[in-house]
Amino acid sequence: MLKLIRLQSSIAILGCLLGGAVQADELGKQEYMDACAACHGASAAGDGPLAELMTVPVPALTGLAAANDGVFPMLDVIYSIDGRQGTRGHGYPMPVWGKRFAKDVENTGPYGAETLIRGRVLSIAYYLESIQK
Ligand code: HEC
Repeated sequence: MLKLIRLQSSIAILGCLLGGAVQADELGKQEYMDACAACHGASAAGDGPLAELMTVPVPALTGLAAANDGVFPMLDVIYSIDGRQGTRGHGYPMPVWGKRFAKDVENTGPYGAETLIRGRVLSIAYYLESIQK
């Protein structure tokens, strides 16, 4: 009996962990669609509707790992999203989507927003890692 209860609770915990991962993926995808797809394309092929209007070519984001000896360049991607990389096409020094995060600061104050925004940036980076070819 005790073993069965243990097994059930292990399955429940596993379910929660998997559920969390699925949710994180969904969040990253949603953030990507809202903030990045206009230029980089819905499937990250570099073919969003704004791409042809840019003077700097918009790169595909599915080959970042392949271009980096098979290792996803997590830190570079995070810096590229939060503005530290100075990516020209993102409107350096303030990325064009910076305003999207202003509501977080309004709603949670500077410290809460710091955590929330890091989470959102990270969720996009994880999503991109998951779609590498
Ligand atoms: C306004 C159009 C636009 C939007 C929106 C945009 N990007 Fe970009 N992105 C570009 C352009 C243009 C480049 C190439 C810039 C350059 O060469 O300086 C680029 C480059 C990058 C790079 C570097 C790719 C490489 O090959 O080194 C990454 C990573 C990236 N973008 C991720 C994102 C993410 C994630 C988002 C959403 C949070 C996003 N971009 C939103 C236009 C955009």
